[in-house]
Amino acid sequence: MIKLGRLELSGKLLLAPMAMYSDVAMRKICYGYGCSYSFSEQIRADEFIAKDEKLAKKLDLFLPMGIQFLANDPEVLRKAIEMVNKKEFYLGLENVRSIDLNLGCPFLMNKNLGAALLNQPQLVRELFKVMKETSSLPISAKIRLAINAKHKKTKPYLRIVKIAEEEGLDFIVVHLRNAAQEYSGEIDLAALKEIRENVKIPLIGNGDIVDVKSGIKMKQFCDALMVGRQAVSDPYLFKQLDCAFKNMKCSIDVIKEKQKCIRQYLSYSEQYKIGFQHIKIHLQALLRDTGKDELIKELTHTHTVEEIRDLVG
Ligand SMILES: Cc1cc2nc3c(=O)[nH]c(=O)nc-3n(C[C@H](O)[C@H](O)[C@H](O)COP(=O)(O)O)c2cc1C
Repeated sequence: MIKLGRLELSGKLLLAPMAMYSDVAMRKICYGYGCSYSFSEQIRADEFIAKDEKLAKKLDLFLPMGIQFLANDPEVLRKAIEMVNKKEFYLGLENVRSIDLNLGCPFLMNKNLGAALLNQPQLVRELFKVMKETSSLPISAKIRLAINAKHKKTKPYLRIVKIAEEEGLDFIVVHLRNAAQEYSGEIDLAALKEIRENVKIPLIGNGDIVDVKSGIKMKQFCDALMVGRQAVSDPYLFKQLDCAFKNMKCSIDVIKEKQKCIRQYLSYSEQYKIGFQHIKIHLQALLRDTGKDELIKELTHTHTVEEIRDLVG
């Protein structure tokens, strides 16, 4: 059991929010391997408060999890949080255990959202204040280190994390890249160490945890780990990390585990009525590095869930 501020979790491993990928079936598979928590994919607070039917269909708030908003207007964020408090309009809001603000998305900076806010500390403070005043649930922010390499030299990450601490956020997730790097290039573990040395707010480290070694290395400087892309193809990485934290040996038969994950994904996709595109990309990711390149190719040419089921058998 760990406490990230007011959020109590059964362990120290989280699945990263990933649009299209961290759907309910993937979350359920990962929770089965010892992952303790995850988030919705990013939701624009303005679309959320508009009670958007398309968004309502897309949201899959089925398991205990956080909800993540993109916002740059404190009053819009306030309304979105009030709707979460009142469990208004959207199904599954009773499963939401915390509210997160996205300060890391590199793709909506032209709309002044996500990572764009990293150089607007006063606005970030106002947004955090609104979260604290309005939310009845624990609150967090998921940040990147900076907008780009030049901006990083001014250490905006320290400023934002300090503001989060001052405004009473429960925890912070740090993706150890700048926004210009998107999803490649080296992560900066030294920046995580620096944050750890400067604030007391619970910290979750994120970025390029691809195996036990990289997880253990990052864990030195934070309270919990958030795994993204590697978990999509190897959900059992959570079990390997969990065993490593407990100093336990854990032998994994990769092919058997992948077969199990594929069976589970198909079964959960039926249970939660998950659409064709999600099933296709997840099975392709799960089959990666298994030598089943022919099958991956054939999956590319399928057009219906039935075809996928026939193919995977
Ligand atoms: C396809 C994809 C979608 C993502 N969607 C989101 C999102 O909705 N919200 C968010 O905060 N981060 C999002 N991310 C970033 C991840 O949460 C994570 O920070 C990033 O992938 C780094 O972790 P990793 O190296 O373990 O993958 C996304 C990443 C990917 C690859």
